[in-house]
Amino acid sequence: MLESWAGINYFRNKNYGEIILSISISFICNNQLVQASLHPATTVLDFLRKHLRLIGTKEACREGDCGACTILVGELNNENVSYRSVNSCLLPLGSINGKHIVTIEGINQKELNVIQSSLLDEGGTQCGFCTPGFIMSITGYFLNSHDYNLNDLATSLDGNICRCTGYASIKRATQKITGVMNDSNPAGESRVEFLVKRGVLPEYFLHIPDRLKEIAGEKNKPYNEAVNSINFIAGGTDLFAKDAERLLEAELKFLGRQKVKPLVWNKDNLCFINAAATVSDIQSSELLQKIFPGIKNYFNSFGSLPIRNNATIGGNIVNASPIGDSIIFFLVLNARLFLSSESLNREVPLKNFYRGYKNIDKNNEEVLNYISFDIPEENGYFNFEKVSKRTYMDIATVNSAIYAEVKDGVIMHINISAGGVAPVPMLLEKTCDYLINKNITAEHIKNAAVISQSEISPIDDVRGSAGYKRLLLRQIIFAHFVKLFPVYVNVKELI
Ligand SMILES: Cc1cc2nc3c(=O)[nH]c(=O)nc-3n(C[C@H](O)[C@H](O)[C@H](O)COP(=O)(O)OP(=O)(O)OC[C@H]3O[C@@H](n4cnc5c(N)ncnc54)[C@H](O)[C@@H]3O)c2cc1C
Ligand code: FES
Ligand code: FES
Repeated sequence: MLESWAGINYFRNKNYGEIILSISISFICNNQLVQASLHPATTVLDFLRKHLRLIGTKEACREGDCGACTILVGELNNENVSYRSVNSCLLPLGSINGKHIVTIEGINQKELNVIQSSLLDEGGTQCGFCTPGFIMSITGYFLNSHDYNLNDLATSLDGNICRCTGYASIKRATQKITGVMNDSNPAGESRVEFLVKRGVLPEYFLHIPDRLKEIAGEKNKPYNEAVNSINFIAGGTDLFAKDAERLLEAELKFLGRQKVKPLVWNKDNLCFINAAATVSDIQSSELLQKIFPGIKNYFNSFGSLPIRNNATIGGNIVNASPIGDSIIFFLVLNARLFLSSESLNREVPLKNFYRGYKNIDKNNEEVLNYISFDIPEENGYFNFEKVSKRTYMDIATVNSAIYAEVKDGVIMHINISAGGVAPVPMLLEKTCDYLINKNITAEHIKNAAVISQSEISPIDDVRGSAGYKRLLLRQIIFAHFVKLFPVYVNVKELI
């Protein structure tokens, strides 16, 4: 039962007699202003279905794997609202204060729009369970892209699973949609204005920026009450996939995004990334694209677009998975972490942060603020490889990155990281020591791959046997060199 005292709302938990704080939040859901007082760890999916009775958003895996619950979240960005697709099953209510939430009901109009009618006409929907999620992901794609192409549209659907159609009909529908939506918005017209004009979005979207400004203000900042909390929540993609029930009994601190611009910046020859930057943010950063031309592709294998839109770099690093993709990526760059608590600011090398399985050099009060690394030299070469059971939407069996500085075919500096082969994400130090000052030849690379086997301790698990992981690491080391240095080594010499 909801009770109130001194302006704080709370619920009495009947089972345990504990008091669980709730928080009052305001946001716009579709065309309606919603004010709610609930525990901030309530998932948006549950709130939509159980409280607002908006049951078009479907519930299936509750782990971010199927896309049935996909919605759009819009955030005020100067004069416009920027929208991203997210999994509402992993999204806490406490993170949507002052935002615009769009469900399938919110894009419905008198007539079906081109996305809806194309899916229908091409047989892209059968039982219909997945269809709202597909429609929201496609809408999110058109809200964010200017140059439409089928490949990017397919990537935006990498988190949507359909049990019925076999995908051929969905693919036909997307071809039809891109055929119709083949022109871009003229200069000076926002994406929202363009899509309203094309009948893809209802007219009320045009007024959302002003309405969000009205509800913006101190009381509508992201929920941030429990200062001594041990439950920092960033994107929530790890926490809510694993621990959604426990979080309903916990005090939480939301690490909001609004206050933390810029997300990626450089100073002198250093690059900084805010811990609150999402995987999508780093993929679309012009600075990072310049430093790592392949960054968009490397991270397309990270979850699905709705996961990448919410998963932060800070959350990935602190979650300390031995196969965390961004950890493996930044380890080879000798990245440094900047942590702070009320009493202390400190810097820790990323490679020293992991002390054992899920055991990190951080106390409960410390927040990771940003990471930094030296911008690679002109003669620096970088590559990232990930092998998983499925190409997309899967965590790695083994992943690895390499950064090498090479002069006239001689390795002057090298780091190779490896994930999934030890309790912690690791740098292959002995392997790299061997390679320093060596020419890039098939013999040296084969020797290095042998040394790497002495550094790792993989275990059998659901992602593969220890032997398979050993083999994968060897092949990935070969792949790094074949991709980066085809002038010096080719695949035939290595196998
Ligand atoms: C379907 C699915 C697919 C996934 N695929 C991948 C994948 O391909 N590759 C991969 O590496 N991971 C993957 N993940 C894992 C997850 O998405 C990432 O680890 C993500 O980066 C976590 O970020 P978050 O912001 O969601 O963290 P949260 O869930 O909010 O937090 C994770 C942990 O970090 C802590 N934390 C977060 N930010 C900070 C901070 N700034 N300071 C202190 N503590 C902090 C939290 O307290 C919590 O303990 C996947 C997850 C799901 C559900
Ligand atoms: S219910 Fe499957 S991704 Fe949310
Ligand atoms: S139409 Fe049935 S799951 Fe996609």
